Amino acid sequence: MTPETTLPLFSLLDVEKAFPIEGGRREIKALDGIRLNLLPGQSLALVGESGSGKSTLVRVMLGLEAPTNGRVLVGSAELGSMDTAQRRGFARDVAYIYQDARGSLNPRMDVAALLAEPIRLHALRAEREIDGRVDELLAQVGLPRALRHKFATELSGGQVRRVAVARALACEPRVIVADESVAGLDVSVQAQLLNLLRDLQRTSGIAMVFVTHDLGVAAYLCEEVAVMYLGRIVEMGPTAQILQAPRHPYTRALMKAFPRFDSPLAVSLQGEIPSPANLPSGCRFRTRCDEARADCALTDPVQSLLDGRRHVACLHPLAVAA
Ligand SMILES: Nc1ncnc2c1ncn2[C@@H]1O[C@H](COP(=O)(O)OP(=O)(O)O)[C@@H](O)[C@H]1O
Ligand code: SF4
Ligand SMILES: [Mg+2]
Repeated sequence: MTPETTLPLFSLLDVEKAFPIEGGRREIKALDGIRLNLLPGQSLALVGESGSGKSTLVRVMLGLEAPTNGRVLVGSAELGSMDTAQRRGFARDVAYIYQDARGSLNPRMDVAALLAEPIRLHALRAEREIDGRVDELLAQVGLPRALRHKFATELSGGQVRRVAVARALACEPRVIVADESVAGLDVSVQAQLLNLLRDLQRTSGIAMVFVTHDLGVAAYLCEEVAVMYLGRIVEMGPTAQILQAPRHPYTRALMKAFPRFDSPLAVSLQGEIPSPANLPSGCRFRTRCDEARADCALTDPVQSLLDGRRHVACLHPLAVAA
């Protein structure tokens, strides 16, 4: 990653990711025209229903999937054509917390070994300092020192996620990317973990990309939100502005289901989410949109800058109440 702090950490320029389906006879676009900048220290939530493309977007940003179109820049370097030294720097600068935190931890390593591994890998401390650094990391994520010699199988769900956060911090990254890191936890454990992530992010200045299907979680944790629908960012901007006055009908519908929209959406959203293999003509949201007009079936609205920092992909953005 480049040393210039003014450059975005990530710039995505019209990124598209298509997957072949039906034995290669057709394709679906899991991502379609994604434009996104992540600045140093920024916290960005990717929000959307299941299947909206959140995990694919994260995998493209991490270089685990190549985009089928568009560009992914890390600082000023093209992610797909980094040399070995740049790749090593990227692996340290961008830490990833997997959706399945338990499955991502080697079951044969105890907590101390799990935390020491990235420190050694990136040569961040002398050998004699590693033990002390492990203790520091445990303290930072609120885990007792006594857990050093436990294995992931012996830990609770909340403890496992904390270990995963500590492992991310061990790299001393500039960005932490976390996919559904609090999903499936008890509400109280979830709240503790969210508090931890929020404090870490605010005090450390590490940028964060947090994937969640829960708008409440997104609002609590992140200063910026990108709302995704069927592979596209339909609204993006400062969280406070979006919550106060959503400009995209989909965002408004999600907010009616606020703070959780992982359960049935019947109250605020009509119909089912279409399959990405059979997108409606024109605007992909039109089959469920209560603002749809005739032109919405003809023109596919692209993501465009609306007011200052707000991006919206809609032909008829909602008005801001006076
Ligand atoms: N490897 C793949 N092959 C084919 N389709 C995929 C693949 N990965 C994801 N998809 C499809 O892309 C869409 C977006 O998936 P995903 O990024 O996992 O969404 P989310 O994380 O928001 O639930 C879905 O329709 C999914 O079925
Ligand atoms: S373009 Fe039309 S259908 Fe799509 S979100 Fe806007 S108003 Fe609704
Ligand atoms: Mg996902």
